[in-house]
Amino acid sequence: MGIEELLRRVGISDLYPTQKRIVEEGLIEKGNFVLAAPTASGKTLAAEFVINEELGKGGKVLYLVPLRALAYEKFEEFNEVFPEYKIRVSIGDYDSSEEPLGIYDLIIMTYEKFDSVQRHRSSWLSKISLIVLDEVHYVGDPYRGPTLEIAVSKFLYDNSTARRIALSATITNLEDIARWLNAKPIRVDWRPVPLRVGIYFDGTLIFPDGSSELLRGDNSPLPIIRKSLESGGQVIIFYNRRADAVSWAEKIAKKLGMKGNSLEELSDDVRISDYGPSKLIERLSEVVRRKVAFHHAGLPFELRKVIEKAFREGKIKVLTATPTLAAGVNLPARTVIISSYLRFDKRSGRMAPISIMEFWQMAGRAGRPKYDDYGEAFLIVSNNRDAEKAFKRYLSSEPEPITSSLYDISHLRNHVLALIASEGYLEHSDIFDIFGKTLLFVQGGQKLLERSLPYVLSSLEREGFLTSDSKGYRATPIGRRVSELYVDPSSAYIMIQSLEYLLPRYKVMEDLDLSVLQLIAMLPDMPRISLQRGKRAFLEEVAESIEMLLPIEEAPIASLNELLQVTKAAVSLKLWIDEYSEGEIEEKIGIEPGDLRGLTETGSWLCYAYSEIVSLIGSKEVADWLRNFSTRIKYGVREELLPLLSLKGIGRRRARVLYEAGYKTVKDIAFASPEELEKIPNIGRVLSREIVEQARLLYNASPSNRV
Ligand SMILES: Nc1ncnc2c1ncn2[C@@H]1O[C@H](COP(=O)(O)OP(=O)(O)OP(=O)(O)O)[C@@H](O)[C@H]1O
Ligand SMILES: [Mg+2]
Repeated sequence: MGIEELLRRVGISDLYPTQKRIVEEGLIEKGNFVLAAPTASGKTLAAEFVINEELGKGGKVLYLVPLRALAYEKFEEFNEVFPEYKIRVSIGDYDSSEEPLGIYDLIIMTYEKFDSVQRHRSSWLSKISLIVLDEVHYVGDPYRGPTLEIAVSKFLYDNSTARRIALSATITNLEDIARWLNAKPIRVDWRPVPLRVGIYFDGTLIFPDGSSELLRGDNSPLPIIRKSLESGGQVIIFYNRRADAVSWAEKIAKKLGMKGNSLEELSDDVRISDYGPSKLIERLSEVVRRKVAFHHAGLPFELRKVIEKAFREGKIKVLTATPTLAAGVNLPARTVIISSYLRFDKRSGRMAPISIMEFWQMAGRAGRPKYDDYGEAFLIVSNNRDAEKAFKRYLSSEPEPITSSLYDISHLRNHVLALIASEGYLEHSDIFDIFGKTLLFVQGGQKLLERSLPYVLSSLEREGFLTSDSKGYRATPIGRRVSELYVDPSSAYIMIQSLEYLLPRYKVMEDLDLSVLQLIAMLPDMPRISLQRGKRAFLEEVAESIEMLLPIEEAPIASLNELLQVTKAAVSLKLWIDEYSEGEIEEKIGIEPGDLRGLTETGSWLCYAYSEIVSLIGSKEVADWLRNFSTRIKYGVREELLPLLSLKGIGRRRARVLYEAGYKTVKDIAFASPEELEKIPNIGRVLSREIVEQARLLYNASPSNRV
């Protein structure tokens, strides 16, 4: 389609300067660019021009984003703009080459998913004609950056002719990023909606031009919220800790006393009762009734979407959020409040100021063109000295430059193994050539790579993931599998070490479930969850009683605190596979449903990887047990329910009611009458017919029943 038609579809008549520049530079038909332009300046549409061009030529487009909320926002937008093309969001499940993605024209992925797809050398990757890196400043993130960096570098090494676009509002060292991607640097300093940014301290707003405004009230966000609501605005307040987001949502809801809808009324397809009696979700329901909500990773993903939608529709007026919403998203927030500039830093173990880049990303959620004609963002500080500091740091300096974090050894190990495994064999020179395409190399990391690469290669060889000859390196079968499974080689090495203990003893161990769960919980790949006061004594006792699969000296556990965190995760998972509800587990252990989901997703994943590794090493029996165990972790069921889970539409709750009603196997269902099944709670007319049909097919297909 032509540009006019595209604009008609997005409902836009005049181009923003950002978009004009891309047209004028002749970058739609050909060429690559890195676009540095302020938040809300319409970078997406600039990219859409090129996407449209490539799709029109029969090309295939990959759009990479850092956050789930953003992936779905783009998916909805692209579906409206490009309805004649096949579009897909791909986020989870790392052990698949996603060959079916070959049929899609436009694929939206998180960076991590893209990396995993590359590891599988999916055949369709070579068909990609355009790759878009949205929020490219994430490449400097110490945790997530290296994955993006290496995945993109390798992709461009293999597909040197694919077009590439990178977008960000916060790039200072544009030239570096442009050189890395071999793309034209384009900077536009223009924002469609004016954004006023200031500091709030002790009832007063202070602005960079020296002016100030007196609000009546205390040092809480309330006076700012009231003012915004009075002028018809909506507010997002960023908190660094989830607990703060929740408790402030409650305080705000109580003080404002607005009347809103219940959570049930906001969502068509999410049933709150499915989560069991969860404290967190109850607390959400309470505040939502007063037009206030919180948004963080402790909430199940579907509920986060419900909240985003309600905020868009104005049914929620005030939203407290952790940085899960801090990049790229378009929400109707006239006012953004940043509650504090300090955040706990995992690496230093201390409170540290957030980056200037992140400050501007959060501030940039305010004043989005579709919704408001101005925006305002305020940082709350608690004393005069902080006010001065914050002023200097955030309001009068540029965001920090984006620098590669790939020098980190554990990142390097992971990615070097992945590269060699995906190619099968790589010569020394190839390895150095690929790393020669990285941002790290562009930024002067050559010396560093010359020193650390040999070390990384030899450590991977020592652990049995690689073998070498005079010219290069080959991945061992385990090395290859580990990389495909997307587990950190350090996690895999721990699994391998544990076998010395597990294989001879697995039949006689007292609580095999808990020992295996503890091993899984301690792997570097597993999220560490926070401890709650009060549960320590209980967790210490449990930790003491678990039979460990690794001597504690060899375990990747640095402190008692970490041991308790790992134990908390293991116990939560144990309750989960014993069929306690999410609410009950929250009650007993103090873990939020979203965190529990994180543990079950990653845990079942790692357990599956464990079973694959064990099967390569040669114990089929233990491998089979682990595979079943991984399914139990995924669905949260006791072993006896596993057969029923092979039926579509049957999860933990329905499997349990069927089982209790005497239908324990696929065979039982195959021989049941739909009319009988229908009477069982939660099964219903449609499902009962569907599962009987499925069960009959499965039963007839099983080899022992064929005549
Ligand atoms: N030419 C235009 N006229 C009117 N509205 C526009 C125009 N271009 C884009 N918009 C609207 O502006 C909003 C912000 O655009 P977009 O999401 O692309 O911002 P962005 O530059 O990517 O910002 P961020 O850095 O925060 O991701 C969108 O709602 C979009 O529909
Ligand atoms: Mg954007």
